[in-house]
Amino acid sequence: MRLEQVFGLAGRTALVTGASRGIGAAIAEGLAGAGATVIVHATTLPKAEATCARIIDAGGRGLGVAGDLVLPAAGTRLIADAVAVAGQVDILVINASAQINAPLDALTEADLEMQLSVNLRATINLLQSALPPMAARGWGRVVNIGSINQSRPKSVVTAYAAIKAAQHNLIQSQARDYARYGVMLNTLSPGLIDTDRNAHRKATDPQAWQDYARSLNWVERAGFSEEMVGAAILLSSDACSFMTGEVITLSGGQ
Ligand SMILES: NC(=O)c1ccc[n+]([C@@H]2O[C@H](COP(=O)([O-])OP(=O)(O)OC[C@H]3O[C@@H](n4cnc5c(N)ncnc54)[C@H](OP(=O)(O)O)[C@@H]3O)[C@@H](O)[C@H]2O)c1
Repeated sequence: MRLEQVFGLAGRTALVTGASRGIGAAIAEGLAGAGATVIVHATTLPKAEATCARIIDAGGRGLGVAGDLVLPAAGTRLIADAVAVAGQVDILVINASAQINAPLDALTEADLEMQLSVNLRATINLLQSALPPMAARGWGRVVNIGSINQSRPKSVVTAYAAIKAAQHNLIQSQARDYARYGVMLNTLSPGLIDTDRNAHRKATDPQAWQDYARSLNWVERAGFSEEMVGAAILLSSDACSFMTGEVITLSGGQ
């Protein structure tokens, strides 16, 4: 069997949420490189189109969509918009998230509301709209971007970590319900990755950032967004036809 038959995504359409930068942008570009048409989502269209431009420059196909996932029913609207621009969604990468660093006793109602809306409600709405058409076509993939914190929570991200664990619980229940239709759902769980999300820490005290990253894992550094791409392609491809409800952790060992 040829490599393209196992991992190739030609003829597939992928929607990647939060693909303007960081892990989402790297995965969007990676899936396009593997042959998928990629629907790039961000909060605004110009941000989505910046990633599309890089995909198109590299010879791929990228189409932009926009929407703030904090809003009620935003996940439902996003799938409708993606279908409107590309016809269907075969691969859904749930990547966009809000992360508020605060221990539980300092977490405000607004911080909680934001994380629940973007990370959990939108995920439920995305799955409700994306899964039935995948099942009807007899093929689908969902790649949920989790976090090492979902299984090893830290006090400073208690609510975020609990919501990530709930997200994976959803992935597992839907994996069981949809496996018989050829729809596989899995979670890719990163450790510390060098993205905008952590840029303030790096900028405030570069040495402390390096020391922290070094102390976290066996590779002794933060990961790069590009290091998430291979596993994302695996979970999006035919190679994943007998794997569902699982977690792949990419954390440098810890
Ligand atoms: N970086 C890490 O160390 C790390 C570790 C473990 C897990 N993760 C997970 O990996 C994923 C990507 O993280 P990252 O570090 O690459 O993130 P990032 O650099 O902060 O980028 C976040 C992305 O999500 C989008 N987004 C944020 N809020 C949104 C909203 N309300 N509605 C729609 N889109 C929204 C942003 O769009 P705009 O550009 O338009 O704002 C952006 O594309 C997240 O699920 C995160 O929880 C990250």
